[in-house]
Amino acid sequence: MTIPAPSKLAYVPFVSVDNMMKLVHHIGVEQVLADLARYIQDDFARWELFDKTPRVASHSTEGVIELMPTSDGEVYGFKYVNGHPANMKKGLQTVTAFGLLADVASGYPVMLSEMTILTALRTAATSAMVAKHLAPKGAKTLAMIGNGAQSEFQALAMKTVCGIENLRLYDIDPAATAKCKANLAGSGLNITACPSPEAAIEGAQIITTCTADKQYATILTDNMVGAGVHINAIGGDCPGKTELHRDILLRSDIFVEFPEQTRIEGEIQQLEADYPVTEIWQVINGTAKGRTSDAQITLFDGVGFAIEDFSALRYVHDQLQDGNFYQDLDMVADPDDPRDLFGMLQRAKGGK
Ligand SMILES: NC(=O)c1ccc[n+]([C@@H]2O[C@H](COP(=O)([O-])OP(=O)(O)OC[C@H]3O[C@@H](n4cnc5c(N)ncnc54)[C@H](O)[C@@H]3O)[C@@H](O)[C@H]2O)c1
Repeated sequence: MTIPAPSKLAYVPFVSVDNMMKLVHHIGVEQVLADLARYIQDDFARWELFDKTPRVASHSTEGVIELMPTSDGEVYGFKYVNGHPANMKKGLQTVTAFGLLADVASGYPVMLSEMTILTALRTAATSAMVAKHLAPKGAKTLAMIGNGAQSEFQALAMKTVCGIENLRLYDIDPAATAKCKANLAGSGLNITACPSPEAAIEGAQIITTCTADKQYATILTDNMVGAGVHINAIGGDCPGKTELHRDILLRSDIFVEFPEQTRIEGEIQQLEADYPVTEIWQVINGTAKGRTSDAQITLFDGVGFAIEDFSALRYVHDQLQDGNFYQDLDMVADPDDPRDLFGMLQRAKGGK
């Protein structure tokens, strides 16, 4: 017996890792980063429309597995993502992810996508979009501490969106720095591998920390950070996992995505629960101030919020309209009579 082919309604576009890589190169990495920064900024500008909740995190001694849902009332999205700092030494990635968009009116999925690559892109696009609002005008030099999986994406987004020309790299593992430098050869960035974090931040107007360690680490100490810089701290994103000395936080004006989540996961978990922070969407809307003086230290305590993933999925979905870069996945059971799910199951009995 031959099992009937699934109906059209059964199929959901699926963007595999292979197709995501092809899509990104079809558009161009830097163009994708610039487009994503715009999509994320547009969604932050309509922040109040969205369902917002701190992500649902399942912690273990090895890492964390999280679900990140949100909806704008018409479209629903979620991401599954993990963070396992010890994975890298076992030949596995620290962060992997996939996500889904669904139609709120019917509840039907409209796209399933890989999000490991997309998360790196959206994290970098978010960092750069925020830096565009907060970094000192004319910033040309970026220090990047932590040269792992996220680092090249971060550097390219800062180049494309903020006009960064010089990149100063540091990682405790020189092999990571060598990898990052080699991957970015030909990018147009003027790259220096530095022997220490102190050397890396010399002359930098933007400092990005994107290290991975499941503990309270001190990647930057207070005496290292001079007046006027913008710090883009993205590696501290779990309870008990931070990168900056508390004293730096006390000297900075702190900007966050969703305070309810950042107070649990971000650098500000080191501060009192009511310590004043500014929500970045309000800076984008002009209802809160961003950088107000040349001497001010601005700190983006980025942990990654569900709306950024929603924006990224929305962007990828918009690129699929010409029928390329996805496969149809037989994902939604579609019986001829919606109430006869069992009857549909029986159709496959004894089939091949
Ligand atoms: N905020 C967000 O939205 C967001 C998104 C994705 C990842 N992350 C976080 O960013 C971090 C980096 O992610 P990744 O995928 O690049 O990880 P990765 O494991 O690929 O790279 C981390 C790098 O940090 C280096 N490192 C560790 N301790 C260091 C130290 N003390 N000084 C300098 N370098 C050090 C490691 O050698 C490694 O090269 C992780 O903590 C991850 O959870 C945040």
